[in-house]
Amino acid sequence: MTKRKRLPNHIAIIMDGNGRWARQRGFMRVRGHEEGVKSVREITTECAKKHIGQLTLYAFSNENWKRSKTEVNFLMRMLKKYLIEERKTIRDNDIILKTIGRIEALPKDVQKELSISMEESKNNTGMILCLALNYGGRTEIVDATKGLARDVKKGIVKLQDIDDATFKSYMYTSDMSDPDLLIRTGGEMRVSNFLLWEVSYAELWFTSVYWPEFKKKQLEDALSDYAKRERRFGGLIE
Ligand code: IPE
Ligand code: IPE
Ligand code: MG
Repeated sequence: MTKRKRLPNHIAIIMDGNGRWARQRGFMRVRGHEEGVKSVREITTECAKKHIGQLTLYAFSNENWKRSKTEVNFLMRMLKKYLIEERKTIRDNDIILKTIGRIEALPKDVQKELSISMEESKNNTGMILCLALNYGGRTEIVDATKGLARDVKKGIVKLQDIDDATFKSYMYTSDMSDPDLLIRTGGEMRVSNFLLWEVSYAELWFTSVYWPEFKKKQLEDALSDYAKRERRFGGLIE
């Protein structure tokens, strides 16, 4: 194995392929989501052990409401169960739980479990685990623009003072670093409205492996590829 030079501080993952994993085995799609939770646990624990600064997981997009009522309901129930059951994982690994997305549109009982978990973990000092829930990159930019426009109107911010940093301070991710590594499982080569602003200079890593099969070994592969990348940010390396 190649010697690892450096680890990403922030890893973002588009956890895709649950449905296809299930279909391939003759199961209902939802079985794939259940199996996917096991990968979430393994990858979260692994990243925390490696002292990764932040892990952001795309769990439910603005567009995922388009799915059948049965599947959406299942995902919401599963999310609630996950939040309750994973409190131990969060505690044991000193994880701080955060979210991005329009949380206010999630079922009330899910919101309740979320706030309990976030409150319980807020004084932890390890990795940030950020769940993207009812998240959309375009919506995030629209919401940030509304907030900024409001403050310009009130005279709190001057139009001529707006720069990248000002704009970022109105995003859901205002207090977070940008992802260094973006992983997508499931074989699709697209970003599907995930962190559009924040991935500007992220290293992209795609695998055809379905999310339920993405484990420690696959994470190691992504990390050793990442370590070999030369990040120039538009500049030059001497
Ligand atoms: C990702 O798996 C999980 C969510 C989007 C909630 P999918 O459900 O999209 O699985 P595929 O892509 O249909 O296989
Ligand atoms: C992206 O996967 C969203 C999540 C992983 C939560 P999708 O399955 O929704 O993306 P598309 O529809 O293939 O682009
Ligand atoms: Mg999918």
